[in-house]
Order: sequence, then C-alpha cells, then structure tokens
Amino acid sequence: MSPFVVFEGIDGAGKSTQIQILHDTLVSKGYNPLLTHEPGGTPLGETIARWLKSYPQRSPFTELLLFNATRAEHVSQVVQPALDAGRIVICDRFVASTLAYQGYGRGLDLRLIKQINLLASQGLQPTLTVFLDVHTTTAHSRIDAKALDVFEKESLEFHQRVRQGFIEMAAEESEAWLIINGSLGKETIAKLVWQRVRTLLKNPAKP
Ligand code: TMP
Repeated sequence: MSPFVVFEGIDGAGKSTQIQILHDTLVSKGYNPLLTHEPGGTPLGETIARWLKSYPQRSPFTELLLFNATRAEHVSQVVQPALDAGRIVICDRFVASTLAYQGYGRGLDLRLIKQINLLASQGLQPTLTVFLDVHTTTAHSRIDAKALDVFEKESLEFHQRVRQGFIEMAAEESEAWLIINGSLGKETIAKLVWQRVRTLLKNPAKP
C-alpha cells in the first residue's frame, strides 16, 4: 500500500504549514500526493465539520459519532481509493485526534472510541503519524482569537489533556509515530519530516 501520512497535534501546533511543505516537496520530486483533512474531506463531511466546529450544544457521544461519520465517508470515498490508486495520502488529523479530543479531552472511554474509529476507518491505519508537539500556551498564542471555533474556545486544561493524550499515544506506538518539537524552526521541522517520509517511498533513492 502507498504511504498514508497523518499529521497530529493540538490546535495551533503548526500542522498546516508542514503539511503544505511536505506536499510541495513530494510534487517537486515527481509524486502526485493527495492532501486531505479530517473532519471533512468530502462534501457531506465538510457540512458535518461545520456543525462540529460551530454548534456548542451536543453530547460528547454525539460528537464522537459525528467525527466518525465524516471519517466513514472520507475513508471510503477519498482516502482508500487514492491509496488503492498508488497515491501517497497526507492527512491533517485522523483517528488519534478522536482519541485525544473525545477521549483524553472529553473523557469518553478510550476502548469505545477505538472500536468506533475502527469501524469508521475500516481498519485503515496510518503508515506514519507525525506529531507536532507544542506547549499549550505557545499553540494558544498562534490562534486567531477573533474567529475561535468550538474546540479553540475550550479551556487551557482541555488542551493540556489533549496534548497529554497525543504524548501518551506517541509513546505507546513509537515505531509508527514521529514526534517533533513544534517550537523548532519551520525549515528544521520540514527537514525532519522529509528525512522520515523519504524512507517510506517506493523509490527512496529520489533525493
Ligand atoms: P481543524 O479543521 O481546524 O483542525 O479543526 C478540527 C477540530 O476538530 C480540531 O480542534 C480538532 C477537532 N477534532 C476532534 O475533536 N476529533 C476528531 O476526531 C478530529 C478529526 C478533530
């Protein structure tokens, strides 16, 4: 299967910048990567994602199901077909975000989340999860305070629990995760990401 590379981290960790750099690097080397994201990535998923980011009144369990509804659509309609067609897929957030936010953040049972994640993703696992780790106060200062969504409005403690969740998952699955200090310079981070991603490519000889 082609590499499925996922970026994770708390809001404001700098994922978008690094995802774009990796995408552009792959394109410059002659690859045709698919850049996508969760929640969303399909027309139906984008509608659900808008609800998720703007309707504050919902139960944590409803939230869990809605994230996984977008995932079911995204994996079956977009991610798996691209991987089957031999494309590298770069995804902004995937199942680990659900464990971090709905599990560690909201307090839902991690085993239950794993089961629902598994159903929605049809068992698809990232080849590599790049975790950009930044301190919550650093991340907070990078977010536009004028346009906060439901999650960005959550307390610092919530984001600390989410960050702790990512740290624990990365430690548990250290072989499939790359942990990078997200406070490093943009170019340094990009270099670390590329060093690892190139080892996943079919033709790693491409410089
Ligand atoms: P983003 O599109 O700006 O990354 O916003 C998505 C928000 O949704 C972000 O705060 C993380 C959150 N999220 C969850 O709570 N659970 C999930 O499963 C996913 C994919 C995202």
